[in-house]
Amino acid sequence: MMTRFAARLPCLLLCAVFVIPVAAEETHEFDGRKKCSSCHKSEYRSWKKTAHARALEDLKPGNKAEAKQAAGLKPDKDYSENEKCVPCHVTGYGEDRGYEIEDPSKYLIGVGCESCHGPGEDYRRLHRKAGDRFERKQQTTPREALVEAGQEFEFKQRCYSCHMNYEGSPWAGAKKPYTPFTPEVDPKYAFDFDHAIRDNKAMHEHYKLDGTFTGPPLPPFHEEFQDKAKTGDGG
Ligand code: HEC
Ligand code: HEC
Ligand code: HEC
Ligand code: HEC
Repeated sequence: MMTRFAARLPCLLLCAVFVIPVAAEETHEFDGRKKCSSCHKSEYRSWKKTAHARALEDLKPGNKAEAKQAAGLKPDKDYSENEKCVPCHVTGYGEDRGYEIEDPSKYLIGVGCESCHGPGEDYRRLHRKAGDRFERKQQTTPREALVEAGQEFEFKQRCYSCHMNYEGSPWAGAKKPYTPFTPEVDPKYAFDFDHAIRDNKAMHEHYKLDGTFTGPPLPPFHEEFQDKAKTGDGG
């Protein structure tokens, strides 16, 4: 105890005097899809049927054998605990309370809610509070509060972090581990965001929102999706 305290002492003093700014980027913890799914039942049921929900299955031996062969991978090898593969086939790998190979949470298997909507521990609490306020008093909450709590409204960079992450990618953020499925392997792997965001095999269906949250930011396709949205059950 003494030594640990002694080691921290200089910082305690410095921080007290200069109020050293903490790293600018705020981090929010992953929480898994259990809570999201219990409130958003319709999106959950629809997501379950998507390619994203089954993404970890790709890594098991025998699955997608032809695709693996074409990309120079071994069809019979088990890649489902391989750190060169798992990061893009699960939720929040390498992040605060995200998926871990040694201690996998079943609620983080596959490309889940938080892979696109952001780590949810903080904003999902706001959803509950805002939902209650809206139901009891018809009071709305600005979306800006959700951004502060870590919710994503741009989406593009999140998709790119998996789909555009390969050697020689035009995306500046690309870094290892890379996806083996590049446009060079097959042009069908080229990623076009505007097209992909409307793909009904990979994306969950959309359901009408009541209007609990208002104002910016909103993605450019929000109105289009809400115009065509179905009536679901749950928030
Ligand atoms: C940087 C992220 C990333 C990494 C790392 C990664 N993948 Fe993927 N993987 C993807 C994406 C994105 C797709 C979807 C590609 C598409 O269909 O456009 C995909 C698709 C697949 C598919 C299905 C391909 C098809 O045609 O259906 C298999 C199989 C697969 N990955 C296996 C692996 C294996 C094995 C590894 C490790 C050697 C790996 N992946 C590493 C992102 C990644
Ligand atoms: C954590 C990594 C990850 C993120 C984030 C991610 N994807 Fe994927 N995506 C995958 C993987 C892996 C597959 C392959 C699943 C399969 O086919 O089994 C896939 C498959 C797809 C497919 C079907 C294959 C194809 O190319 O036609 C589409 C479309 C797609 N994703 C769109 C998106 C969009 C749009 C976003 C962002 C809103 C996104 N993805 C975010 C990893 C990711
Ligand atoms: C591959 C990316 C991706 C994944 C995975 C994903 N979503 Fe979404 N989600 C979106 C996009 C894009 C929208 C549209 C946002 C908009 O219109 O403002 C959306 C919209 C929503 C909405 C607003 C109403 C609607 O239906 O459009 C809810 C609620 C929602 N998602 C919940 C979930 C839950 C719960 C999960 C997990 C079970 C999940 N999402 C998984 C991308 C994703
Ligand atoms: C306690 C219930 C509850 C939980 C848990 C919850 N939400 Fe929500 N969420 C709501 C309510 C209520 C709304 C407002 C819906 C409306 O206006 O119709 C909402 C709205 C949303 C929206 C739409 C925001 C907008 O642009 O208006 C998305 C996306 C969403 N939730 C995703 C998630 C995700 C992802 C999780 C898990 C990390 C989650 N929610 C957890 C109740 C919940």
